[in-house]
Order: sequence, then C-alpha cells, then structure tokens
Amino acid sequence: MRKKVIAGNWKMNKDLNESQNLVSGIIDGLGNDNKCDVIVCPPFTSLSEVHSLIKNTPVKLGAQNVYHENDGAFTGEVSTGMLKSVGCDYVIIGHSERRTIFGEKDDLINKKNKKALADDLKVIFCIGESLAQREEGITNSVVEKQLHKGLDGISSEELNNIIIAYEPIWAIGTGKTATPEQAQEVHSFIRNYISQNFSKESGGKIIIQYGGSVKPDNAASLLSQPDIDGALIGGACLKADSFLSIIAST
Ligand code: 13P
Repeated sequence: MRKKVIAGNWKMNKDLNESQNLVSGIIDGLGNDNKCDVIVCPPFTSLSEVHSLIKNTPVKLGAQNVYHENDGAFTGEVSTGMLKSVGCDYVIIGHSERRTIFGEKDDLINKKNKKALADDLKVIFCIGESLAQREEGITNSVVEKQLHKGLDGISSEELNNIIIAYEPIWAIGTGKTATPEQAQEVHSFIRNYISQNFSKESGGKIIIQYGGSVKPDNAASLLSQPDIDGALIGGACLKADSFLSIIAST
C-alpha cells in the first residue's frame, strides 16, 4: 500500500511573515498526525524560516525550482546545494508554469531532474497536457513524451526518489478539475509506463500525485482512485484550513 503524499505548491505567494503564519497554522492543525506525508513548497525567500518552524514536525520542505549547475554566472538561479543548505528535501521540477511562462523544455527539465537526484534531493516531477491536446485526443502521447524525455538516463534506483505529479494544464487554477475517472485513466497510463520502462516493482511503488484545482470538496473522490497517491495543491494550500482539510481527506 502506497502512503499518500500531499504537497502544497505556494507558487509566488506569501512574504516571509505570511509564510511563517501559514506554516504555523499547518503545524498546529496537523499535530503528530502522519497518516500521509506532507510537503510544503514556499517561495525561495521563505525556505530558511519555514524550515526552522517545521524542524521537529512531520512536515517536509520543498523548493519550487532549481538550476542544474553547482555555481557560477547564472543570475537569478539557485543550486541544489543552496536548497539543501536551507533544509529542502524536495524540489518541484517541470511545473507547467515553468514550461509555459518561462519556456522550459524537456531537455532542461531532464538535466534538472538528474542533477537534483544526484545531489540527494527528491523530485516532484510535473507533467500534463493542455486543453487543446486533450481535445485533440493526444493526452497519453503528450504525457508519454514528457516521461520519456524527463526521465531519460534515470535509473530504477533513482526513480525511488521521484514523485510524478500529473497536472492537466487546463485544470490548474481554473476551478475545472479532472473528474476522478479522467485522472485515474492517466494515472494508470503513467504507472504502466513506469512498469514497462523501468520495472514492475518501480511501477508498483511510484507515487503519482494529481494536481489541478484540488479542493477540500473534491479531494476525497480523487484520492480514492486506485492510482492516485496524493495531490499537489496550488490555491487551496494557501490557507491552513483548506490544506488541512485536504490532508484529512486522505
Ligand atoms: P491549483 O490547485 O491552484 O489549480 O494549482 C495546481 C498546481 O499547479 C499545483 O502545482
């Protein structure tokens, strides 16, 4: 049985003070409850302070992006070493907002995935199709290409440190959620891809999160699907109450 993993992607929200308030609310509400794994991914500017607050709690820290070089003239970027030095265990890579707004392509995402894994960060690797691609009926082939390119050169052993987040772009921030059946269909496709291209054992073990307008009132039905092992939450993770209520629905 795979343990569910609920992650909050705060995106470009919450200054330092607001971050401290939000994470304090999450910790207080959670207590020592560890039915599922909980990850918070604040903006870079809050990572260090949020880490101080979660240190002795079950909550883990993730960053929203990383660059694949150790150091040097890469203005505006941060390295794996920098993220680890402020207490990150996880990093989100390949989010659709990075792909569409910042032009990140599969080969860059693959370099980031490999670098993060090599440096002992766990990766939340995001994939998902646009509305046009879904309407064209090419969801599976889009997802397959993202998996093929993003996971190129990654071993079955390294895959143990990857969570895949299926986030259909048309469901992100739109209030339009994939139905549990639509999401389950793609999750099952992803799991089969992993079983066939890595190993059956890897396919059985890999955590596949769903993301895209997950809210307290739709979380339980999504999370009860056999291949949905957790959620990557945007809007609904910005208030402790709604994030906690999604966690409770696991
Ligand atoms: P929303 O939950 O706001 O749709 O965002 C999902 C997401 O992009 C999480 O990474």
